[in-house]
Amino acid sequence: MIINGSPRAPKSNSKKYAELFSKCCTIPTEYYPLTNTDHLELCKSMEGFTDVLLVFPLYVDGIPVTLMDFLKTLEGYPCPHKPRVSVLINCGFLEPEQNDIAVKMIRLFCKHQGYPFGSVLRIGSGEAILTTPFKAIVARKIKKFAFSVSTGRNQSLRTAMPLPKKMFVRASWGYWERYGKRNGITREQMSAMEIEK
Ligand SMILES: Cc1cc2nc3c(=O)[nH]c(=O)nc-3n(C[C@H](O)[C@H](O)[C@H](O)COP(=O)(O)O)c2cc1C
Repeated sequence: MIINGSPRAPKSNSKKYAELFSKCCTIPTEYYPLTNTDHLELCKSMEGFTDVLLVFPLYVDGIPVTLMDFLKTLEGYPCPHKPRVSVLINCGFLEPEQNDIAVKMIRLFCKHQGYPFGSVLRIGSGEAILTTPFKAIVARKIKKFAFSVSTGRNQSLRTAMPLPKKMFVRASWGYWERYGKRNGITREQMSAMEIEK
């Protein structure tokens, strides 16, 4: 059972990662995007699966609130058969270890609630990598991860674009500046707090 915990599930990078996972997973998968109303239904469905894969983005060094809300529902749900929980997380920054705290949050939840914890894949540069030639690198890692999940090996994997930090930051600025320009917004405006309003 693949659960997409991104707040923008239908258009998310997590959806694309979930698709790559399904393609190379040797056991059958079913995909479920999280919505505001399907939490209880998903808890019930979980009973029929050996494994649950949580695919989600890093939000402010933690897990997105959509996923947090789902875990709250799951906490109160008496699941008689608890599937093994694995994690595929992606973040915007280059370093896969940015995701460490969020992974610890899920691991702690599993420990407290009695869910066996499975494999982890941490993806750095997860917003960018899929539209670059480095996509092949992440696809290979997802294949390895899918093998680990389907065989219950409980591996901890990581991947990112193989670029020096400076080059990654420069390329990111270029990308966001072009994006801003298309929407009539300057670098200065993007750097100001008013951008949040
Ligand atoms: C509100 C918000 C907070 C974010 N916080 C972080 C962060 O703390 N660290 C990071 O590396 N990326 C952060 N990101 C970037 C996302 O993790 C990244 O864009 C990811 O690819 C989004 O995945 P999704 O399309 O599956 O939602 C943040 C993005 C948003 C919108």
